[in-house]
Amino acid sequence: MRKGRSTLLSRRNFLIRAAACTAAPFLPATAFAQSAYPMRPIPKTGEQLPVVGLGSTKAVLQLPERGTANFQLLLRTLLDGGGTVVDTWSRDAALDKLTGEALQADGLVNDLFLATKVDAVGAEAGRELLARTRRLFGKTSDLIQVISLRDLKTQWPVLKEWQQAGKARYIGATVSSDHQHEAMMDFMRGERPDFTQVNYSVMETDAESGVLPLAADLGIAVLVNRPFMNGGYFSRVRGVALPEWAAEFDCHSWAQFSLKYILAHPAVTCVLTETTNPKHLRENLGTAYGRFPDAKTKRRMREEMQFI
Ligand SMILES: NC(=O)c1ccc[n+]([C@@H]2O[C@H](COP(=O)([O-])OP(=O)(O)OC[C@H]3O[C@@H](n4cnc5c(N)ncnc54)[C@H](OP(=O)(O)O)[C@@H]3O)[C@@H](O)[C@H]2O)c1
Repeated sequence: MRKGRSTLLSRRNFLIRAAACTAAPFLPATAFAQSAYPMRPIPKTGEQLPVVGLGSTKAVLQLPERGTANFQLLLRTLLDGGGTVVDTWSRDAALDKLTGEALQADGLVNDLFLATKVDAVGAEAGRELLARTRRLFGKTSDLIQVISLRDLKTQWPVLKEWQQAGKARYIGATVSSDHQHEAMMDFMRGERPDFTQVNYSVMETDAESGVLPLAADLGIAVLVNRPFMNGGYFSRVRGVALPEWAAEFDCHSWAQFSLKYILAHPAVTCVLTETTNPKHLRENLGTAYGRFPDAKTKRRMREEMQFI
């Protein structure tokens, strides 16, 4: 088991600084003066969430071949760097068992904000999947989302039933492409979920004129996916020099360029960055510190990307 909460927090404070030192080239000087990791509230409850989280798809898919060590290291890096949010979901029983083993090692799962998803058609299939996730991951999910609005009319009542029974603290739904934004907004207006999850970045800005302002109006928490277009962004910027003016908002890498753009939006609660590399995760976590671009600078960032 992990150590007690107070010991853990002081140890974590130490480790936040240690992680900051490791990620020093990517951190502004102000990071060392900030004592706590930057958080934002979940509008429905005021509960605070760290603003950078871990998307686990790639790391989980590597589990059968590579074992659980790297995924566990990523989870420790997340916690030691001040984060807690992990987004994952149930695939098949064998993979879920491995995922659960990694999550539960050393009691890690108890310190995580665990976001899972239902990916099923039919109410019974949905309930079965949720029960398996809960059993194998070893925790009541903090958040359960209907993946990509799949079978929404059936799965949403299942999630409400699950939440009422105390088997999900928050519920919501996800989309990851612009063509689903209208449907997501209809759902948000009609059902007022606790959370929405949406694709948004300096390259995919559609949410700025729809999902994000609506979430702010309705008091819905926002998780952001595809900050790097599942890696496509890095292919695009490879070999291109980071603009010097990025330093004006404490940005020191292309990864941070996209993450700073996302986190500058006040409706965003937490951005999920998917990685299998602990060094990348530290760099991504470090984006939360320091300054963020204002509206004029965000326009300049979008213009910059048009020429790359
Ligand atoms: N419908 C849905 O519900 C849905 C759909 C898509 C995504 N999501 C969620 O959103 C999460 C993230 O979105 P995404 O899948 O589109 O991935 P992403 O975060 O946009 O991109 C991941 C890619 O970026 C690379 N990367 C990450 N940090 C880096 C850094 N600092 N420097 C260089 N490369 C870096 C990773 O490679 P390395 O491994 O080498 O770091 C990986 O190839 C997913 O894991 C999932 O939780 C949900």
